[in-house]
Amino acid sequence: MVQPVTEPTALATTTAEPGDTLVIMTSEATTAAAAGTWTLGDLTVNRIGFGAMRLTANADGGASDRDRAIAVLRRAVELGVNHIDTAAFYFSARRSANELINRALAPYPDDLVIVTKVGPGRDPSGQWLPMARPEQLRGQVEENLRQLGRDHLDVVNLRVYGPEPLAEHFGALAELRDAGLIRHLGVSAVRPEQLAEARTIAPVVCVQNSYGLGYRPQHDEFLRSCGQLGIAFVPFFSIATTGREAGAGGGEADEVLAVARDHGVSAAQVRLAWTLQRGPNVLAIPGTGNPDHLAANVAAAALRLTAEDLARLEPVHQRGKS
Ligand SMILES: NC(=O)c1ccc[n+]([C@@H]2O[C@H](COP(=O)([O-])OP(=O)(O)OC[C@H]3O[C@@H](n4cnc5c(N)ncnc54)[C@H](OP(=O)(O)O)[C@@H]3O)[C@@H](O)[C@H]2O)c1
Repeated sequence: MVQPVTEPTALATTTAEPGDTLVIMTSEATTAAAAGTWTLGDLTVNRIGFGAMRLTANADGGASDRDRAIAVLRRAVELGVNHIDTAAFYFSARRSANELINRALAPYPDDLVIVTKVGPGRDPSGQWLPMARPEQLRGQVEENLRQLGRDHLDVVNLRVYGPEPLAEHFGALAELRDAGLIRHLGVSAVRPEQLAEARTIAPVVCVQNSYGLGYRPQHDEFLRSCGQLGIAFVPFFSIATTGREAGAGGGEADEVLAVARDHGVSAAQVRLAWTLQRGPNVLAIPGTGNPDHLAANVAAAALRLTAEDLARLEPVHQRGKS
């Protein structure tokens, strides 16, 4: 695949100057396994996964192309992705992420780990509802089971709305785990003290919090402490960062562009590689509905930033504190 160096979409093995044309190593050569693995309880996943939130709508809010979304999911699995993040509340007027996953991938490969989240909810018209009460979580779990066509869920994250105690909600999920509806539990958008509280109730295999290069650097220590506890840290918005739900597309820091240029890769790939290099317990779940971006994100599994690169990027990260 030949690409202009200014718009790389996959990982190159050579360095080049802007304006050069180079042959980029395609995703055919790189699979998600190149990032290494981590275990969520007894489930082993490649550290480059996939986030399904972007599958249901285009950037302008219009319904996504159904066949394209299904093709992205199937390609992700072909490229070695075996960790997909989703939620029943990822839907647009015409598309549901869970339904697309079911359509694209069932019967599911044995090694595929589907992680979903409960707590938030939306009514059928898409309006956000208040945080579910503990007794409503069973219904949300069952909704995910129905949509995904499964009899149990691999991992369910309790997605909280604030710093309040989560014991009642997490206790309700622990009961569903004991009943066999859920294999493993995680928590999302939490503070360290909420993780500690959850762990007094049941084992926690992952923390899913927003984090990236220059985005929420206050989570650095939390990420490390999760690793010491054997808990995966699964950042969301690691490409979009401050763009959050609106997505990537704002200006990019000069340092990121410079490192990207040196490696002949894109800024998004540098951001993913940086995230993965924060610790062996970090699992990336980049979200995209674009097949070229999917290939590029998987190819980033093989990108290794040097100590010099990391030092060059550190000021970008520190600027996120201000
Ligand atoms: N627990 C929570 O509260 C929570 C909240 C939000 C998200 N999540 C999960 O985390 C996942 C990741 O978050 P996210 O999807 O918002 O953010 P992200 O992965 O940081 O970034 C997605 C944005 O980056 C673009 N993008 C992706 N790959 C790219 C590439 N190679 N080059 C250029 N642009 C690229 C996407 O646009 P294109 O579609 O055009 O590629 C989209 O605008 C979600 O899919 C979802 O599963 C969890």
